[in-house]
Amino acid sequence: MDDRYAKSQILFHWLTLVMVILTYSAMLLKDSVPDEYVALVKQLHYNFGISVFVLMFIRLGLRHLHKAPPITPPLEPMQARGAALFHWLLYLLFLVLPLLGMLSVVYGGKNFILLGWQVPELVSPDPQTGHFLKEIHEVLANTGYFIIGIHALAALYHHYFRGDNTLRRMMPGK
Ligand code: HEM
Ligand code: HEM
Repeated sequence: MDDRYAKSQILFHWLTLVMVILTYSAMLLKDSVPDEYVALVKQLHYNFGISVFVLMFIRLGLRHLHKAPPITPPLEPMQARGAALFHWLLYLLFLVLPLLGMLSVVYGGKNFILLGWQVPELVSPDPQTGHFLKEIHEVLANTGYFIIGIHALAALYHHYFRGDNTLRRMMPGK
């Protein structure tokens, strides 16, 4: 078995990181840009966020096609189960989060432009539901910072302290 993730998995993993950074950055920028750019920054947030959804969806398919390569030296069974669980949590969070964002926009009756296409009204706007979904979206989005932080720290721990190939398996190369 190959000792690295498939090239497509590696490409999509790092591309997801880039799109996640752009998605968060747009929201962090929102309050510092001049008023006339706020709407644009929000639309960028929606579009970047949807690309994360699409990427995670594709990655789920790729994960189905390719098994995760083995870690050397192997993890204790408990550690391996914990790592697997955490990865599924990442998939779940970054699929549910953009979905909630989309639903909050649709139910909130907000303007939604996807890659230049004006998304039509898909449901009758319901501001209360829209607000509720937005609140959950925001709580989960803030949880996302910690989940990604722990995930990245775990990768560094494996590389620098445990000295195994966990990170190298996700690095591009020949
Ligand atoms: C991985 C994907 C996403 C991440 C990480 C993310 C993250 C965030 C963050 C950090 C905030 C601000 C939270 C706060 O102020 O406490 C936010 C707000 C929001 N997001 Fe997302 N988001 C994502 C996807 C989406 C998508 C796909 C949509 C809609 C299509 C969306 C719609 C919204 C809306 C409507 C708000 C409230 C903005 C406002 O203040 O008006 N998000 N999101
Ligand atoms: C600096 C940031 C990041 C680093 C250093 C990093 C590192 C890694 C490493 C080394 C692996 C392989 C772990 C293993 O197989 O045991 C991995 C897997 C994974 N990462 Fe990240 N990652 C980062 C950001 C992200 C982000 C932003 C997401 C999602 C939004 C993410 C989602 C995943 C998932 C779902 C897996 C499991 C792969 C699979 O088996 O399909 N990562 N990451």
